[in-house]
Amino acid sequence: MSTSITPGQGLTTTKAPFIENAQANGELYIHQPYELYSEENQATWRKMYEAIRPKWEKYANAKFMEGVENLMLKPDAIPRLDEINEFLSPLSGFSAKPVSGYVPAYLFFDCLRNRSFPTTITIRDGQSLDYLPEPDIFHDIAGHVPMHTDRKFSDVLVRFGEVARFAAIRARTLTSDQDEINRVVESNIKAMARFFWFTVEFGLMREKGEMKVYGSGLLSSSGEIEHCIESDLVQRFPIQLEWVVNQYFEIDKYQPLLFFVESFDHLFGLVDDLEQWLKDGKLDNVSPGEPAVNPEDLQSFLMAETE
Ligand SMILES: [Fe+2]
Repeated sequence: MSTSITPGQGLTTTKAPFIENAQANGELYIHQPYELYSEENQATWRKMYEAIRPKWEKYANAKFMEGVENLMLKPDAIPRLDEINEFLSPLSGFSAKPVSGYVPAYLFFDCLRNRSFPTTITIRDGQSLDYLPEPDIFHDIAGHVPMHTDRKFSDVLVRFGEVARFAAIRARTLTSDQDEINRVVESNIKAMARFFWFTVEFGLMREKGEMKVYGSGLLSSSGEIEHCIESDLVQRFPIQLEWVVNQYFEIDKYQPLLFFVESFDHLFGLVDDLEQWLKDGKLDNVSPGEPAVNPEDLQSFLMAETE
């Protein structure tokens, strides 16, 4: 049964009939029905942008700030994805692709390989401005997409997609024992998810002697972006692949442990290393713990179309 849709009724996270209908119909890739945003949704964007802008100027890496300018991100209105893509695509070939909700792991990585970024179009409730466990358009567009204007960073995302594809292909040729394939793929996904978390989502970078932020989870939180740089409660270490792929994390609190890279060339090299480790079987039995690999994610790798 579909729920009725009226202009301005809102695209609030977990409370949007448009999204519920799309999910009920099995539609993952959707459009952005801009007329549905409510006044409250627009006010939420304005408040969040206003709170984060001065923090970006202080803590964000230089490429991110260039990206914000190049995308002409507006402080006063939720962005239209079509307009963002007009600026974004000529710079790196990337585009923001609207989705109705959770994208299973393989499909997510494969979108990156094809220079598409699955993008949430709902916006958080005005009551929970600073933290939200699920992504929303503020996290995806204000936190991720400015980084995608940088050619090197966007190439890192494409490499991630290639590693995921390699993992899907490799698992099928390893053994005929399905339980063993499942175990290996689950470990590979866990390793990739951890690496992604500690770089693309929560990465720090040393830039001209100063610690700067490039991870989108930090860039979209006006509280944590400051905390991650200023607080004595945060441990910051040079990134080490063997550590990151075995390190569990919790998503519902400020991160106590972060890793820094020296440049995006450095990060790109690490994804090459990740692929080599995968080929060498070094990601086939990483330490247990978070993140949990849900059956949908596992299935997405097992059923991946890799041609
Ligand atoms: Fe994210």
